[in-house]
Amino acid sequence: MLLTTFFVKDSLVKTNVAEAQNNLITFNSVVTNQVAPFITNIENEYTLKYVEDIVKQNSLEYSARTLLVGLDGRVLVDSFDTLGDKTIDTLETRLALSGNRSTNIYVHDGDYLIYAAVPIIDRDNVVGATFMSVEANTIFEEIDRFMEKLFIIFSAAILISIFISVFFADIISKPVEKLTDSVKIITQGKYDTKVEILGSDEIGELSKAFNIMTTKLYQVEERRKKFVSNVSHELRTPMTSMKIVSDTLLSSPSWDEKVYREFMSDINTEIDRLNKIIDSLLYLVRVEKDELELDYSMTYVNYLLEWVIKTLTPIALKKNIDLSLTSSNKIQIQLDQEKMQQCLLNIIGNAVKYTPDDGRVSVELDENKDHILIKVIDTGIGIPEKDLPFIFDRFYRVDEARARKTGGTGLGLAIAQQIVQLHQGTISVTSELGVGTQVVITLPKK
Ligand SMILES: Nc1ncnc2c1ncn2[C@@H]1O[C@H](COP(=O)(O)OP(=O)(O)OP(=O)(O)O)[C@@H](O)[C@H]1O
Ligand SMILES: [Mg+2]
Repeated sequence: MLLTTFFVKDSLVKTNVAEAQNNLITFNSVVTNQVAPFITNIENEYTLKYVEDIVKQNSLEYSARTLLVGLDGRVLVDSFDTLGDKTIDTLETRLALSGNRSTNIYVHDGDYLIYAAVPIIDRDNVVGATFMSVEANTIFEEIDRFMEKLFIIFSAAILISIFISVFFADIISKPVEKLTDSVKIITQGKYDTKVEILGSDEIGELSKAFNIMTTKLYQVEERRKKFVSNVSHELRTPMTSMKIVSDTLLSSPSWDEKVYREFMSDINTEIDRLNKIIDSLLYLVRVEKDELELDYSMTYVNYLLEWVIKTLTPIALKKNIDLSLTSSNKIQIQLDQEKMQQCLLNIIGNAVKYTPDDGRVSVELDENKDHILIKVIDTGIGIPEKDLPFIFDRFYRVDEARARKTGGTGLGLAIAQQIVQLHQGTISVTSELGVGTQVVITLPKK
């Protein structure tokens, strides 16, 4: 708006002044034409009087001052009667005496004056010049008045737009403020915070995404809390047993050696259990690291399974379990041997562990176009349907009491699942209580 004001004023001044200058030249020419025939005879008293009348009448009409100048620059007629017989020498008169029309604007003591000079031509000869000056202050006063009005209008427009901007900024910033408040609350650890979803614009979308994020955060936080409490609980249980046993031993000074041995062996079992939990936990933490890189190598899955079965055979033999492997082909894929061995040990180990004496565990290796399939089928105790969704959770065991007897940590399946997922594979379990369980692992060939 300021720039507009500046340019408007500039062009207004230019056009108005140019118009006034043109008018003055035109009027000057009219006067000049009237007086031209008489200039050569101006020495004559009556002629001079006649010419003076013409000049004064016209000047009055146009509120201009008019000077008739001879070829030598001497003033012949002055409509103000003050310069009689004096010579004037302005740029405009000089130009006029050499046959050119000219006009200009000047400032004298704060007043604007427009000059215009026209040559007086009598029978093709320049015989003098008509010099006119007129005050131009009104032009500038009018433009100033116009600019004042423009200024008032612009100021009003600016005020209105400020008002509207503040109003809309408030409407736009309110939801952002709400969001910011929620973020602040979340940083204090209150992960169940939700923001109100306003509208379907960008802010609405952002709020939706934000709520999804807080839900995720909340779940992660809950998992973390549960994990910490599980770990503490799992570590405390063997500790408590050891404490009871050692307190009992200390309470009486004279136990015979047999009792000592028995109690010490209990403590030893608990220490083994603690070690197993800690080892499994450390292993799980290692495979859960985001940046974990798998150590891939081309491996025959058949041999890998054979190795796992060989490792588990002594336990199976003890329980008289028929542990067998069937495979249609030799299948070779890229995998991390050490981790996949651990995974299969956990799965097939479970099958052996949770199958009663004289049962059967069969491992089948198969393939389709893109995947290999490893099925572990047992005739064991099975898993109740209500427990199935949780068996991959850390520390989850179907039967806590029995788990203590069998020494399970509840981490085996969590580790196995993590390893399969690192290989971009899937793992699923179906089971029927008292009949048996089937675990299926799929791994991509590429
Ligand atoms: N083949 C199976 N048959 C019946 N129940 C099973 C079978 N595999 C797993 N489960 C149940 O799932 C639970 C979780 O298994 P997971 O391997 O994670 O822990 P665990 O075997 O108890 O402990 P760990 O593997 O550390 O010795 C087990 O406690 C068991 O109740
Ligand atoms: Mg297990």
